[in-house]
Amino acid sequence: MFQDIQRSALIEAAFRALPRAYAPYSGFHVAAALLGESGTVYTGVNVENASFPAGTCAERSALNHAVSEGEKNFRAIAIIGGKHGKITTYCAPCGVCRQALREFCDPKEFLVILARTSDDYIEKTLDELLPMSFGPDDLV
Ligand code: THU
Repeated sequence: MFQDIQRSALIEAAFRALPRAYAPYSGFHVAAALLGESGTVYTGVNVENASFPAGTCAERSALNHAVSEGEKNFRAIAIIGGKHGKITTYCAPCGVCRQALREFCDPKEFLVILARTSDDYIEKTLDELLPMSFGPDDLV
């Protein structure tokens, strides 16, 4: 069961990570905090590259960080982002990140929290953001 305190902890973790975003080309700074089934929180930031397509979104940075640490099932992710690190709007995950997250969760249970502050957020399930998704079970 996901609790208010876990949501706040995730959003605060994303805010702590935000200064580490590397976005010299777009100037759009993004941070994500991903909650694993174990209770561990993994953060990630966007990491851009002079060869633009080589850049990575914050959500996939967090996911790759977590999977590299051995966690493979997730409950929720908080995402914040804004131009020059100023959070004024809700930052929605791109389509590639939605699909990447789909691999490691139950989309009807996994929560995506788009935050502006700890108590100003939009919360959706991954299934709402990526309906009729394709996942590991489809290949069994
Ligand atoms: N970006 C993310 O990291 N996550 C999102 O949800 C949306 C976009 C990054 C990619 C790129 O570094 C910058 O934001 C502008 O697209």
